[in-house]
Amino acid sequence: MGPLGGRVAFITGGEGSIGMATARRLVADDAKVVLVGIEEEGLRAGVAELGADAACHVVADVADAAQVAAAVRVAVARHGGLDIVFSNAGISGVIAPVAEYPDDVFDRVLAVHVRRRGGPGGAIPRRGRQFVHHRQHGGGRRRHEHLTRRPARSP
Ligand SMILES: NC(=O)c1ccc[n+]([C@@H]2O[C@H](COP(=O)([O-])OP(=O)(O)OC[C@H]3O[C@@H](n4cnc5c(N)ncnc54)[C@H](O)[C@@H]3O)[C@@H](O)[C@H]2O)c1
Repeated sequence: MGPLGGRVAFITGGEGSIGMATARRLVADDAKVVLVGIEEEGLRAGVAELGADAACHVVADVADAAQVAAAVRVAVARHGGLDIVFSNAGISGVIAPVAEYPDDVFDRVLAVHVRRRGGPGGAIPRRGRQFVHHRQHGGGRRRHEHLTRRPARSP
């Protein structure tokens, strides 16, 4: 068994370039991956490539806290917990002078990367709380990591 054997990774933007590259690497080390994103065709293609034993997908918009919570529930129900979270989903918006930047695009970029729409708090802190909640209630097994800040260590 590889060094991540038995670990479960939740990867947002899992159908994208970095998401799939990460999933391939984790699966090569025997982790299970849950690909989460908004492009179902890409998610399905990712699972087909990685193999249904190693990967599954959930369609969810990370700017929508309820969808993220539902995706976490699906992942926990399938695997019994989460060990690794890669909060990777993102959009570039548009390149434009600040004074001309479209408000709707700016709001969407913030909603996807920083906060949920229509309320205080934010997508990332809210997701963090959901993961902590699952862990405190026995849903998570070991720890969760933000891989863009702190790479997962070998056990
Ligand atoms: N590639 C780069 O050079 C680069 C540089 C800096 C930052 N980043 C960031 O790294 C991350 C991954 O980049 P990438 O190059 O793989 O991009 P990508 O476009 O290939 O992948 C991003 C994925 O996120 C998904 N996504 C977008 N909005 C979403 C939402 N609301 N909910 C769920 N999924 C959503 C998309 O469907 C896509 O599959 C992004 O957050 C990006 O902003 C990338």
